[in-house]
Amino acid sequence: MAEILTPSRQSVIRSSDALQQGQLVAFPTETVYGLGANARDDKAVARIFDAKGRPRFNPLIIHTYSAESAFLYVQANDVAVELAEYFWPGPLTMILPRRKDCSVSELASAGLSTLAVRVPRHELAQELLRMTGLPIAAPSANRSGSISPTTPQHVAESLGDRIGMILAGGACDVGLESTVIDLTSGTPLILRPGAITAEEIERSTGLKAYYDFGETDKPRSPGQLLRHYAPGAKLRLNAVDIEEDEALLAFGSLKFMGSKGGGFARDLPEERLLNLSETGDLIEAAANLFRMMRMLDMKNDRIAVMPVPEQGLGIAINDRLRRAASETDRG
Ligand code: TXA
Ligand code: MG
Repeated sequence: MAEILTPSRQSVIRSSDALQQGQLVAFPTETVYGLGANARDDKAVARIFDAKGRPRFNPLIIHTYSAESAFLYVQANDVAVELAEYFWPGPLTMILPRRKDCSVSELASAGLSTLAVRVPRHELAQELLRMTGLPIAAPSANRSGSISPTTPQHVAESLGDRIGMILAGGACDVGLESTVIDLTSGTPLILRPGAITAEEIERSTGLKAYYDFGETDKPRSPGQLLRHYAPGAKLRLNAVDIEEDEALLAFGSLKFMGSKGGGFARDLPEERLLNLSETGDLIEAAANLFRMMRMLDMKNDRIAVMPVPEQGLGIAINDRLRRAASETDRG
């Protein structure tokens, strides 16, 4: 079971050390408890999806202790700077373009060219973020499909058997997730309503933000609004051999993988062969997925993909691969 750490400097140090080592730490924010991981570490980010049991890779929010540290990872614009001044630290998440030199894992933003950033104001979150100095990826600290936790006990009930540490900081005072605002177009769009309303934004900054509702009265979930990274290359899934002109995104052993042009898949040159995980480890595969898809996509028109088992993180990996394959079919 997860250890619940009472709030103290010692607990913050231990949580920070755990994060540095790539472990998951649940920590309090003013909205809900977050399930934190070092956002620069692909494997640590993969562990978040594994622990939550999410059936797909939704992009995560990156937490930092100040606007300056958040803007190291994304390209801020005037609106972002103004909103940061009024609402950070606080329950507002901004979607902005990733910087070219952004060191955050591609898995954390699900392969998108944008990144969600937020500066929480909870005192313990602030202390922890300052101590690690790292960008921390953190979705709400609950299993996929259950409600967001606002006390350390909620976290323990939902994820206690899947994570090592919960930094306890009492009940969250907002109790509602942060507002997610997309600032990548000329018009600020609220993708997820939350603790800060459009009215509040207008009252304090004069900026007009619009709720991004669909055609119907029902709000669309941000997941539906996302434009996902789609490779230009054509993907062929569940490949048991490769065609002459294909690159290979492998999973596991290549021993029996043949090439129709003769020879073995394992002898392909590096720009045509990448292995998600030679040992068949799904966490490693998830950690490598977006980077390897992108690398093969840059140099190849057709990519064969070996089968990935439909279990654990394999479910989210296959979901992403299937969508990438059908997206390229259409184009
Ligand atoms: O209050 C909160 O925001 C909490 C605490 C822990 O900070 N975190 C949270 O994270 O609710 P999560 O992962 O449960 O929700 C993140 C939301 C999702 O709806 C996701 O689709 C959206 O933010 N999101 C993240 N990155 C995005 C991106 N690049 N573009 C559009 N939406 C994005
Ligand atoms: Mg959530």
